[in-house]
Amino acid sequence: MIGRLNHVAIAVPDLDAASKMYRDGLGASVTDPEDLPDHGVTVVFVELDNSKIELLYPFGANSPIQTFLDRNPAGGMHHVCYEVLDIFAARDRLVAQGARVLGDGEPKTGAHNKPVLFLHPKDFAGTLVELEQV
Ligand code: CO
Repeated sequence: MIGRLNHVAIAVPDLDAASKMYRDGLGASVTDPEDLPDHGVTVVFVELDNSKIELLYPFGANSPIQTFLDRNPAGGMHHVCYEVLDIFAARDRLVAQGARVLGDGEPKTGAHNKPVLFLHPKDFAGTLVELEQV
């Protein structure tokens, strides 16, 4: 059912430092920061040949990333995102197997203007999973 790995998201306490580390240290192509108020995050994408790394930094009050950084002050892996062709079919199949979808269970528009869902980490080996319809 799942296709390619779309991205791995890493929450960071210092977006400039993390961008510099990927750009100058690791020699990757890094985008400018983009604020996504609806998601409570500022994102930078590290563009790799075969995937992307999404650097996440809190934006505004009540950012879910702030909660994560409070528990993980040095930052850390926040979620993985897999591509699916039909997000409703994927959701219905997973829910039928007992998996929990976060929020109200309906797809939202994600950072790439495509429908996304998040799945409960307790159902996926302790990892928050994002599904993105491509
Ligand atoms: Co993501």
